[in-house]
Amino acid sequence: MAEYVLPDMPFDYGALEPHISGRIMELHHNKHHAAYVKGANQTLEKLDEARAKEDFTRLGALEKALAFNISGHILHSIFWENLAPKGGARPEGELAAAIVEDFGNFESFQRQMRETAGTIMGSGWAALVWEPMAGRLLITQIYDHQSNLSQSGVPLMLIDAWEHAYYLQYENRKTDFFEAIWNVWNWKDVARRFEAARQFKLGLAGTKK
Ligand SMILES: [Fe+2]
Repeated sequence: MAEYVLPDMPFDYGALEPHISGRIMELHHNKHHAAYVKGANQTLEKLDEARAKEDFTRLGALEKALAFNISGHILHSIFWENLAPKGGARPEGELAAAIVEDFGNFESFQRQMRETAGTIMGSGWAALVWEPMAGRLLITQIYDHQSNLSQSGVPLMLIDAWEHAYYLQYENRKTDFFEAIWNVWNWKDVARRFEAARQFKLGLAGTKK
């Protein structure tokens, strides 16, 4: 029984056109995301085998593979729900207020998200994250799927900056993709994630909210 399963897409592959092509969405979900799910399950099996054989020589590599594949699975699962066919516009309510409080204004936030995605060296993500110690929003680059995120930070909204996310349609013009994605944000989903993340308490001295 597999621990991790590929979720269905919340809309048809072609539903985000013309901003993101159906073929990209199909390959991205059905091949790339599926590979992370498979990799996570296979790595768990290899860890079971290692314990059974009492052979821990490959533990470091296996734990790295586990972090990579589980993180790839989680980030893609969030990313699909972050997008919507008739999305775009702007966030409302408490999420909108928190963006203004932590980034100055919506335009600065938008600019920083784009720049964060555009300056990743190699493969990675731009992420809007809830940071529970200071009780605030942050933007971070995530390298590959698992590096550079502060512990306990919760990703709320993601831009996939791996080449597989845009190359078939945008080729080397990745900044055009990072622009186009603002037409398909599902702000209701981001707001829902924000509300849920804010309920999480670290229980540490020095936590602000
Ligand atoms: Fe991806």
